[in-house]
Amino acid sequence: MNFTRADFPEGFRFGVATSAYQIEGHAHGGAGPTHWDSFAATPGNVVRFENGALACDHYHRMDEDLDLIRDLGADVYRFSTSWARVMPEGRGRPNAEGLDFYDRLVDGLLERGIDPAVTLYHWEMPQALADLGGWRNADMPNWFADYTEVIMGRIGDRTWSAAPINEPWCVGWLSHFEGHHAPGLRDIRATARAMHHVLLSHGRATQVMKGLGVSNLGAVCNFEWSAPATDSPADVAAARRYDAIYNRFFMGGLFQGEYPADALEGLEPHLPQGWQDDFATIQSPLDWVGVNYYTRKRVSATNDPWPAYAYEPAEGPLTDMGWEIYPQGLQDFLTRTAREYTGDLPIYVTENGMASTTDPDPDRIAFLTDHFNATRAAIAEGAPVAGYFVWSLMDNFEWALGYEKRFGLVHVDFETLARTPKASYHALANWWR
Ligand code: FCB
Repeated sequence: MNFTRADFPEGFRFGVATSAYQIEGHAHGGAGPTHWDSFAATPGNVVRFENGALACDHYHRMDEDLDLIRDLGADVYRFSTSWARVMPEGRGRPNAEGLDFYDRLVDGLLERGIDPAVTLYHWEMPQALADLGGWRNADMPNWFADYTEVIMGRIGDRTWSAAPINEPWCVGWLSHFEGHHAPGLRDIRATARAMHHVLLSHGRATQVMKGLGVSNLGAVCNFEWSAPATDSPADVAAARRYDAIYNRFFMGGLFQGEYPADALEGLEPHLPQGWQDDFATIQSPLDWVGVNYYTRKRVSATNDPWPAYAYEPAEGPLTDMGWEIYPQGLQDFLTRTAREYTGDLPIYVTENGMASTTDPDPDRIAFLTDHFNATRAAIAEGAPVAGYFVWSLMDNFEWALGYEKRFGLVHVDFETLARTPKASYHALANWWR
């Protein structure tokens, strides 16, 4: 990897990312059950019937993991707090042990000279709230605001940055329309409500954090480039619908106070009453925006009811996820985000990386090199990109794909839980340190 820090703007931050349920070991430390435990307990939902009960056992190995981040030379660590670890029932009684854990995590980072970048929801909804409808329930923004108050009341004086919710598309569409993630629904009314309530919860949490004096607040969305399978007008329109639902819905809500017409076409009849009045909250001013980027999809039109599109087989080089390696998409999203939505607001690449079981991992080194170059190209075009986080520090529970897909810079042996840095870790440490 032939970079130096001087190849990026001054003050550019490099980091790694993880999330709570994927690494901590949710069976430990007094955390309450989550809808991911229930989803994973349903045969057929997760490969090899795996779950996050132990994961990387980060709960007990935190110091070793923080040393790995320090030795990598990372400036900042993006982690998430688990709502059900902080409040096992989702409401009411906090779990003192859980709050202590995140307190130690933040202090452990600061002691090592690493900035803590927290996300408050990376998908493990407390089961007690899932039982009440989860993101479908109009009370979610209130419950989420209360949780925000509790966790950020404890650690928000020392975090470097904070974002309420990771990847609204996955929380809304993937989990309620496609059914691939918890709660595993296929229901358009649930989808529309979840998509809107996620944004409203984001806004409420942002306001709560402002009130607490927490600094450097942002939003983290995921983006997938949408390419029409052919240049027929029907496929072009289908790819546009895909782009509306995946990319423009959330950015439109957050930064323009409206949803795109080609998404409303299918979703509007199912949105909660008075949704138009919520944009004042949803648009609470932010200090940065996060772009998670992995791949693009080829999309074709179908004769089915809305959204009437299908995914065509990916072309070109693929990762172990079957995702096309398409760095140009990162460059295009970074420039488009600034141009169409956020202007001068700092943009962070909050996730980017690849699943691969090869070890040593020259494929991952090549992937990261190409995406760093895409980031540099976007900066050269004027996009105010201020940092980049690799997904992920270490191999972990890759949701419905279990422990089979390995995104880590550090290899984890899931029998012994031994951590071994891969070649990609050393390649980054060479110029980050
Ligand atoms: C993102 C998720 C992250 C991980 C990567 C591969 O969508 O935020 O938890 O699963 O994909």
